Amino acid sequence: MADVLTITINGKEYEVGADVGATTRLASYLKELGLYGTHTTCYEGGCGACLAVISSTDPATGNVTTKAVNSCLVPVLSCLGSEVTTIEGLGNKHDGYHVIEQRLREYSGTQCGYCSPGMVMAMYGLTQSQSSWTKEEVEQHLDGSICRCTGYRPILDAFKAVTTQDIEDIHTVKCPSTGRACQGCCTSTKNKERRERPQQRQPQTLRLQASNWQQPATLQELYDAVSALPPDAEYTLVSGNTGQAVYSLGSISDYIYTRNVPELSTVIVTQDEVTFGANVCISEVMTNMEAAASTYSGFSYLSQIAQTWRYLASTSIRNMSSWAGNLALKAANPDFPSDIFIGLLAAGATITTAGTDGVTANHTVEELVKIDLKGERQVILRLSLAPVGEDEVIRVFKITPRLTNSIAYVNAGFRLRVDQANAHTVLDTPIIAYGGISSTFVRASATEAVLAGKSLEDETVLQAAFDALATEVIPDDMPTLASPEYRLALTQNLLYKTVLGIVGSIADPTVASGATDLQRPVSSGQHTYDLNTDIYPLGEPVPKVEAAIQCSGEAQYVGTTPTQPGELYGLFVTSTQANARIVSIDASAALEVPGVLAFVGAADIPGENNIKVFSDSKPELLFPEERTMFYGQPLGVIVATGRSAASAGQRAVKVTYDDIQSPVLTIEEALKEPLPPDQGFPFVEGDVQAGFAASAYIIQGAVSHDSQYHFHMETQVCLATPTDIGMDILSSTQWVSETQRAVGQVLNIPDNTVNVSVKRIGGGFGGKIDRCNIVAAAAALAAFKVNQPVRISLDLGTNMTAIGWREPFLCTYKVGVDEAGVLQAVEATLTSDAGSWSTPNSSQGAIFCLPSCYNCPNWLVTPQYVLTNTAPNTACRSPGTVEGITFMENIMDHVADVLGVDPLELRQKNLLPDGGIRKLNQHMIRIRNRIAAHEMVNIPEDIIVPRNLISDMIDEMKVSADVDNRRALITQFNQENRWKKRGLSVMPMLWPYWLGPVTPFSAMVSINPRDGSVSISHGGTEMGQGINTKTAQCAAYELGVPLEYVSVMPTNTHTNPNSSITGGSTGSDVASYVVAEACKMIRERLNAVQEAIGEDVPWEELVLTAFNQGVDISQRYVNGVDEVKGYSVFGVACSEVELDVLTGQYLILRTDILEDVGRSLSPLVDLGQVEGAFVMGQGLFLTEHPLYDVSTGQRLTDTTWNYKPPMALDIPVDLRVTFLHNAPNPLGVLSSKVTSEPPLSLAYSLVMAFRQALNSARQDAGATGWFQIDAPLTVEKLEGLCLVDPSRLTLQ
Ligand SMILES: Cc1cc2nc3c(=O)[nH]c(=O)nc-3n(C[C@H](O)[C@H](O)[C@H](O)COP(=O)(O)OP(=O)(O)OC[C@H]3O[C@@H](n4cnc5c(N)ncnc54)[C@H](O)[C@@H]3O)c2cc1C
Ligand code: FES
Ligand code: FES
Repeated sequence: MADVLTITINGKEYEVGADVGATTRLASYLKELGLYGTHTTCYEGGCGACLAVISSTDPATGNVTTKAVNSCLVPVLSCLGSEVTTIEGLGNKHDGYHVIEQRLREYSGTQCGYCSPGMVMAMYGLTQSQSSWTKEEVEQHLDGSICRCTGYRPILDAFKAVTTQDIEDIHTVKCPSTGRACQGCCTSTKNKERRERPQQRQPQTLRLQASNWQQPATLQELYDAVSALPPDAEYTLVSGNTGQAVYSLGSISDYIYTRNVPELSTVIVTQDEVTFGANVCISEVMTNMEAAASTYSGFSYLSQIAQTWRYLASTSIRNMSSWAGNLALKAANPDFPSDIFIGLLAAGATITTAGTDGVTANHTVEELVKIDLKGERQVILRLSLAPVGEDEVIRVFKITPRLTNSIAYVNAGFRLRVDQANAHTVLDTPIIAYGGISSTFVRASATEAVLAGKSLEDETVLQAAFDALATEVIPDDMPTLASPEYRLALTQNLLYKTVLGIVGSIADPTVASGATDLQRPVSSGQHTYDLNTDIYPLGEPVPKVEAAIQCSGEAQYVGTTPTQPGELYGLFVTSTQANARIVSIDASAALEVPGVLAFVGAADIPGENNIKVFSDSKPELLFPEERTMFYGQPLGVIVATGRSAASAGQRAVKVTYDDIQSPVLTIEEALKEPLPPDQGFPFVEGDVQAGFAASAYIIQGAVSHDSQYHFHMETQVCLATPTDIGMDILSSTQWVSETQRAVGQVLNIPDNTVNVSVKRIGGGFGGKIDRCNIVAAAAALAAFKVNQPVRISLDLGTNMTAIGWREPFLCTYKVGVDEAGVLQAVEATLTSDAGSWSTPNSSQGAIFCLPSCYNCPNWLVTPQYVLTNTAPNTACRSPGTVEGITFMENIMDHVADVLGVDPLELRQKNLLPDGGIRKLNQHMIRIRNRIAAHEMVNIPEDIIVPRNLISDMIDEMKVSADVDNRRALITQFNQENRWKKRGLSVMPMLWPYWLGPVTPFSAMVSINPRDGSVSISHGGTEMGQGINTKTAQCAAYELGVPLEYVSVMPTNTHTNPNSSITGGSTGSDVASYVVAEACKMIRERLNAVQEAIGEDVPWEELVLTAFNQGVDISQRYVNGVDEVKGYSVFGVACSEVELDVLTGQYLILRTDILEDVGRSLSPLVDLGQVEGAFVMGQGLFLTEHPLYDVSTGQRLTDTTWNYKPPMALDIPVDLRVTFLHNAPNPLGVLSSKVTSEPPLSLAYSLVMAFRQALNSARQDAGATGWFQIDAPLTVEKLEGLCLVDPSRLTLQ
């Protein structure tokens, strides 16, 4: 690159090197600069982890605007002349933290902390783009940021607590770039206070290695640039550069960056016309639409459109995206369900384009998208909107699988001129347009013709319109879209909604509310818990010990560990056949690619081709040798100097297959084949046949739950570095001991040469218990072969395809009850899909959880698993437990339905009495204890539940959540509304916490004699669950020092050897115990020294004296047999939902959770676990829907585009969490109970609440009786279960 260019980041200028090309994104560039605080997860605009803030000058006005943007999509070259602020530009531990970081820390808004820098930057962007902000705007600004850990509640609360005064006071913070008190001169200040930098004229053309980047500054320069391109040039205009995340650009030779052209950024709002230049970003368009709507008559329709666009992408994407880029995408890809297109079509917008000769032409949006813009070298210049008459109605809709950051299943735009006084007659041909139907369908012209000139009050006209839609709307059948049936139904229902809105009070009051969309109010939360001040700092509600460095991006993860000298890049080569024989893997062409050093496959393994160690006795291949078992299976690793060389090498590897078999993808298909031989054993109690004989009712049914991606924000990653001793492994592992052995086993080197460390991981949820060893062993093998450090960091797509998820489950059941509804017998089979390998499966554990808190004399619950051609499934937060517990709730609902009794009363009638017996899950205990390398003996069969707290907890919930009153109100609401329904449920839970006699965790505690500070380490992994905070609190309590004296060191196989899995809620629990025990032993020795001194001396003096006397002031501790015990965890949730029957969309109005946490070791940590687990469960039960290509077995849901965990605007509007009052746990560690997993099951209360709402909707449709609800209960399923038929879409 000839020109020397600079980019300003956090007030510092960086020279842009020759390696920066047109496709280099800001996020990658920041890493190259050593700015690791900006995290990345998806690289496609879908997660918000990578947010940065950019201040740039509007070429039209000269004003500086500052906005949060997704740095994974921002081209570095588009930042020339702008100022970039990254998380490093805010605060840090040396100079003090920014107020936003402080608030996030104080409100416990971080768990694993991987999303935290992005969250902070989202909020920072808001505070820099506006001088004041509302709570609603704070919530809206998090619409593109995923947090898998916290459930969002504390993040929302933290940011709502940031005031304008806080931001004004920022001047007291030391400036990271000058080192002096902030003067408001660079990036940490508002626009108005920014130092004006002289704008340098950038060179117009940059000739890069692979392509050209032009950046015209005038319209004429733009025309000239386009016209000068060779006829065959593959060019693109670059505005926000977000389009390539939607549709790949392919290979491009010329990039023309248009954002410096003033005419394309103009905004004009007058009473006659509103116009926007092509580059005006969607956020700014929306702001000006709202302004026009509230200022000038005839523009009120713009507000409705802007409101719908709030659900277009996310705030940061809208900050970058131009409306013109969106329309250009639509023009090039007719199947794109563009919200901009639909909105502007309904609005009757005029679009002006120009050819390279500067000659302009006006088009409707429908005309525009038929133009081959690139082929005809047309540039979009502006759009114009006119006021509309009072008789004109414009309405737009967007129906999505999740409220925010989702592409529409169907969007719709309606424009009708109506003579209200004349029976609401449609005066001329209306506009009825839909997106998301097919690549050819836009206007429902036959339906438009039916309505033209007709009265909307005439029911026959409406029915004719619905018939016309049924004929002309033929939705494409695409596996990642909602079904054609649902999308057709939406076209009819949305038209009906529009008509209801127009005719208003003409319609019967029971149907009138069908007109409105659900409006989500600003959300809120409440926490109630005991303050056990007598034991502080144990039990003190403190923020997590590493929260500050997480919020500031200083916290280091494996993936953000700085690059090592000579470090190489490893990329998996994966299978494209799910079930085939591998004939050959030919990497010869790959090895010719410059930068590629090696292909590493099964043949390179010096040891065992087996990554399984403690968790299963069956070997699991690192790389397959004969057959593939699933699509996306790692076959080997390409090792290269960088990512692009590795990608090119990966593409060049030729894999040949034969004997290609059709993949088996579901439990139902797999059940047609014989079961694998090593099935589990049933849980039997009493005699079910006798129980059925004594039953008045026998009820049978089935229910299933689908899989769930863990969605840890940090994908699987390992850095393997050969050392003089052996191999250093930095792995995102939940189990260092197993990773150590797996690497040793594959490399055939002794364990004492494999040094595995982990400081923290960006979320695990079970996905990194042993699945991490696929990556760790592969990285170690590659490093071993090339004798250089190799890092493998999976991209999101590979992480979602190569690594297994939660096991899908099917439960078939038969239950007998007497006349009064008392359980007599439960017989069930729980079938899990283990994927292509049983690793092991959790069906055996699930069967023991099925009884939950209920009593029944006769049980026969059989586990079984099947194998499918999918990635080996694995533990995912509360594996087996959540299935067992929630299947039983389904059974209880089924019984209540058949008997016609109140579901809550039925549950209360069947509760396990105090002193009742639960079967212990011996199998699970054996697995957990494999680390001890011997089979467990003498595991008890039963566990006694001394007190079933549920009965009291239900009573408490009934009062605190005002259950009876709210149910009465809901009944009334449902009678009065046909198209909106509400439901309320109360769900109890007994979550069995199982722990084997030998569940070893080691702790190491050392006191530093010169200052009295305390260092601890333990064998668990900090992954957001707060293990470090809890153990630090235990240490401080037992030693009698302030919490600030304690620091937690990374986990390492040498200092904390032979520790068990950090999973199944055991990690925090046992690690807290062993740390406390080690501290007690030190304290005892110190007490002796204290006694000898004869008087109370300060801690520092005491430890120094002890040290000088030769007393050991450090201690290891490992828990022995049966030291830490299991028990039952109780919880009750009450959820209320509101359902839009016509669309399936909903609001979770309120959830109350009463959780038994014993005496909490750390209430803020535990609250975070409860809220986070609940929201993760919400995703499992409602939105997260895995999909496969049935012919190839490819997992289709491998991006943020088509996999939808809940986001901040999905969680319960009102979420109240209470910890059971005064409930110390005599069996628990320091009287506590575990919290990481149990509350996930309580999210099933949402399905139960929806069942109530659906019951009412179905009754209106004339249907009664039980119906099966399989999870996830998506918007599509909800609408379908409501049995809406066009014939019922009436006004009366
Ligand atoms: C995560 C994410 C979520 C999204 N969600 C939605 C959604 O819910 N609904 C929705 O409708 N859209 C959605 N989008 C699409 C988004 O709105 C578009 O990507 C964006 O508007 C494109 O604008 P841009 O400025 O980034 O265009 P760019 O990416 O810069 O350009 C895109 C295309 O437009 C062409 N182009 C740009 N300017 C002009 C011009 N002046 N004249 C002619 N051609 C031009 C370019 O040549 C290029 O082909 C989403 C995008 C992302 C990344
Ligand atoms: S990494 Fe940029 S949005 Fe996900
Ligand atoms: S804290 Fe948000 S993803 Fe972990």
